[in-house]
Amino acid sequence: MTKLLNKNVKELLASEEFGQKVVVKGWVRTKRGNKNIAFVALNDGSVIHNIQIVIETASFEEELIRKITTGSCLCVEGILVASSGQGQKVEIQATDIIVYGTADPDVYPLQKKGHSLEFLREIAYLRPRTNTFGAVLRLRHAMSFAIHQYFNDRGFFYFHTPLITASDCEGAGAMFQVTTLDMNNLPLTPEGKTDYSGDFFGKQAALTVSGQLEGELGALALGKIYTFGPTFRAENSNTPRHLSEFWMIEPEMAFYEIKENMDLAEDFLKYLIRYALENYRDDLDFLCKMWDNELIDRLQFVLENDFVRLEYTEGVKILMESGQKFEFPVSWGIDLQSEHERYLVEKHFKKPVILTNYPKDIKAFYMKQNEDGKTVRAMDVLFPKIGEIIGGSQREEDYDKLLSRVQELGLSQESIWWYLDTRRFGTAPHSGFGLGFERLMLFITGMANIRDVIPFPRTPNNIEY
Ligand code: 4AD
Ligand code: MG
Repeated sequence: MTKLLNKNVKELLASEEFGQKVVVKGWVRTKRGNKNIAFVALNDGSVIHNIQIVIETASFEEELIRKITTGSCLCVEGILVASSGQGQKVEIQATDIIVYGTADPDVYPLQKKGHSLEFLREIAYLRPRTNTFGAVLRLRHAMSFAIHQYFNDRGFFYFHTPLITASDCEGAGAMFQVTTLDMNNLPLTPEGKTDYSGDFFGKQAALTVSGQLEGELGALALGKIYTFGPTFRAENSNTPRHLSEFWMIEPEMAFYEIKENMDLAEDFLKYLIRYALENYRDDLDFLCKMWDNELIDRLQFVLENDFVRLEYTEGVKILMESGQKFEFPVSWGIDLQSEHERYLVEKHFKKPVILTNYPKDIKAFYMKQNEDGKTVRAMDVLFPKIGEIIGGSQREEDYDKLLSRVQELGLSQESIWWYLDTRRFGTAPHSGFGLGFERLMLFITGMANIRDVIPFPRTPNNIEY
C-alpha cells in the first residue's frame, strides 16, 4: 500500500509529488461545476490560497455531493495531480470524501465574497474563515513570534507581570475594577465609602493598564526584560484606534538612556516590518490588493528611512506655523491629538517621527524630569496612518524627585511604596517603552479599524463573542 500524505493545504500547494495519494481536511470556500464534475475550493487556514478538489460526481452518492456547500467541512482523500486550471499548480482528484459538517446555505452567513467589514464584525465568531481575517490572524501570529524572537536574540528575558493589580501605572484612572463584593449590598465604612477590607484581596483591585511598574522591577534585576500581555483601559473612547482590552509589548532596560531607548524602538519596529515582508508576503499582497493599495510601499518606505527625532517644543512650533486648520488648536503644553501627530508624520516630514521631551504635566509621574523643570524625557513614536504607535521614556531614578512628583500629583504612595523603594535600593538609570500590539497590527495589515486586527475586540458596549 502506498502511504497517505497527510499535509496541510500550504504544504500540498508547494508539493510536487504528483500521483501521490493524499488526505486533506478543510472548509469549502466555493463549489462550482456541472452535473458531471464539481470543483471545490478548499481552505484549511494554513495559507491564503485554496486547494482545488476535483470531484467526478458519478463516483459519489448524490446525497453526499448535495451536502458539499460553502462553509461545510470536508475530509478528502484523493490523488495529487498537476493542475491545468488557471492560478494553481496542483489539484486533488477526489477518491473518497467525508462531510464532517454541513453548513445550510439558507442560514450560513458567509455565502458570498466581499462582505463589508462592518457586517463581519457582527459575525466575529465566523470571520476568521474569510480571506481577510485569515491573513490578518496569520500576521498577528507572525508578529507575536517575531517579537519573542527579536528580544530573545538580543538577551532580553520575557517577564510576566500581573493582570490584577492595586496600582494605576498611567495614573489616568481608567481602570476596570475587579471585585467579589456583592454589588447589590456593598459594605460601607463609617464615612459611607465602600469598605474593601472584606473584598477578595482585602483592598480595592483592578485590571492592569500597563505592566511597566512591575517590568521595571524585572529590569533592575535581570538587566533587559520585556512583557507581552493584555492590558485593559476603561476610557470611553470609541475610535478606530482604541480598544478596551489590547495587548502591549513593554521592554524595560537597565542602564539605557533616552537615546538608546529610541534606537531600540526604531530597530525593533523595522525588524518586525521586515519579518512580515520576508515571511508573510502572500498575506500582505492580498491585504494590499483588497484594502490598502499603498500598504507594501508604506512598509518598504518605513524600512528604508531613518525616523525623524524631534523635540515636542519644535513639533508644536511646526504645527503652529503650518497654517493648517486643526479641530483642536495647538499651543505649547497641549496633549497632541491624532490630527497633529499625523500632520507632522504625513504632511510635514513624510516619515515616522520620534517626539521627545514633552511637558511634564501631560505625561505620567514616572518619567525622568529634565533640568528645565518643565519637560520630561518622554518619547512617542508617531507613524503614518496610525499616529502614536509607541509611548515610552527614560524613568526618574532619583528617589526624592520621584516622590515629590507622586505627591504633587496626589497619587497614592501607599499603593506604589514598593516601586518607590527601588529608588532607595540600588537605583539605576533605566528606560523603556510600550508598543500597542494592535496599533502595530493596523500598520502591518493596512486595516483601518482596530476592531479588525484582533479576533474578539472589546470596546464600549461590545462584548458579544
Ligand atoms: O502611551 P501608553 O499609555 O504608555 C504606557 O502604558 C507605558 N506604561 C508604556 C511604557 O513606557 N512601558 O501606551 C503605550 C502604547 C501606545 O503608544 C499605543 O500604541 C497603545 O499602547 N495604546 C492602545 N492601543 C489600543 N487601545 C488603547 N486604548 C490604547 N492605549 C494605548
Ligand atoms: Mg501614550
